[in-house]
Amino acid sequence: MAPNNQNILLVVKDQAFRYMVKVAVDLSYDYGIITVKSSAEGLKKLIGAGNTIKFIIYEMVPGDFSFMDMVQKISKEHQNTRLLVIVEKLESVKKSDLTQYSFITVLPKALFTKEFSQVFQKLLQNEEMNDDEFKKIDMDSLAYIDGVTSDAYVKMSSGKYVKLVTKGEVLTPNEIQRYKAQDIHHVYIKKEKVQEVLEQMKKQVQFFLAHPGFKFIVRGKEDSLSKRFEQKILRCADDFCIDEAFQQQLTGVITKTVDAINRIPKLEKILQKIGSQSRERNYLPEHMLLLCYITAAWTEHLGWHSKGTKEKLIYASILHDLTLAGTPHLAEIPDMKTFESMKGSFTPKERDLFINHPLESAQLILSSFQQAPPDTEVIVRQHHERPDGKGFPKGIHWGKINPLSALFIVAHDYVHYVMTHEEHDLEAYLEESSTKFTQSTFANILNVLRKISQQGKED
Ligand SMILES: [Fe+2]
Ligand SMILES: [Fe+2]
Repeated sequence: MAPNNQNILLVVKDQAFRYMVKVAVDLSYDYGIITVKSSAEGLKKLIGAGNTIKFIIYEMVPGDFSFMDMVQKISKEHQNTRLLVIVEKLESVKKSDLTQYSFITVLPKALFTKEFSQVFQKLLQNEEMNDDEFKKIDMDSLAYIDGVTSDAYVKMSSGKYVKLVTKGEVLTPNEIQRYKAQDIHHVYIKKEKVQEVLEQMKKQVQFFLAHPGFKFIVRGKEDSLSKRFEQKILRCADDFCIDEAFQQQLTGVITKTVDAINRIPKLEKILQKIGSQSRERNYLPEHMLLLCYITAAWTEHLGWHSKGTKEKLIYASILHDLTLAGTPHLAEIPDMKTFESMKGSFTPKERDLFINHPLESAQLILSSFQQAPPDTEVIVRQHHERPDGKGFPKGIHWGKINPLSALFIVAHDYVHYVMTHEEHDLEAYLEESSTKFTQSTFANILNVLRKISQQGKED
């Protein structure tokens, strides 16, 4: 058990990084944490600290002259204190200057942020957390976590724990201030949950560092699908980021689909299979996959044989409703008219998600799927536009709709028809939608589809 008067001193200039390290240290150890912004301030804390500073974490700042003074001070007067120096790049430090001190460990920042829990484990390996069931957390640390996965307690003088914050609750800065004014500076959470929080933080650290206003989003298995997806697709103001594992999972699906489409099976067979399935369907994945096969088959008929075109359409098919992954019921809404008729049953957040999903998914593709072929994001941005200008989010007319988007829009509409009709056939669909797509490129696409439908009958 760590003695009560032992502290870890964080000397970190960059605000977001300082918060990140502080929360990570707080969740990992029972030490008190002192944070300062510069080594000059750190030096002041060392003076008169005696043996109470167990460890110093310092982020190297170029031209920081007080740093070596701090090193000298530790070497002469604080034999039990260890120093972790985090540098941008290992080559940026004159190793010889630092390696002569056995109490110093130098680590590149990228490695530290990626592996911080292992780093702490190694550096403080002999330090055990107390064997109590609860871990003491600084009240401020809770402010950087959006929804704890466990209840948080206060410890009474009798030693009893009393619940203060209920699982999933988010403390506002005002509430935190209020608790602090009541002399409540720490809360306790169950230790088994701490590791969960650390694991989730690890995944979100890069995003947190790029967006100082972002909180670590912590979701447990028992949370709803949409809550858990909030963790896979992270939002901060106008920015989006996707969880690395989820991104790789999607890329895997795309690669497999590109492969499968190159060995193209008969589209009719796929449609038959879909039609014979029960109504208990998983709409979004089926919708994505059907779009892949239908757009790939139609491009052949339209004479767009290039591999690049197919790849664009596969990427768009899999990723076009990406930001609706946590709310798949919204991805089932085919157009603005249907949305308007159902609007009353949605929360403002759901409405916002739906209206913005073409733009937000496109933005996410640009930032996180750089391997996607050029223009994939245009198709995604335009996938709910309509040639008569009654689509969304921009309401542009046919003249401004990209030809590949036009194909995607018709295919998207057809897929919805297939998935919502027990009996479906292309001819019937074309008849139903003949007034929807009368303009230019759209009319050409429909003409080709009529030919496909005729051929299907003659075969
Ligand atoms: Fe969509
Ligand atoms: Fe869709």
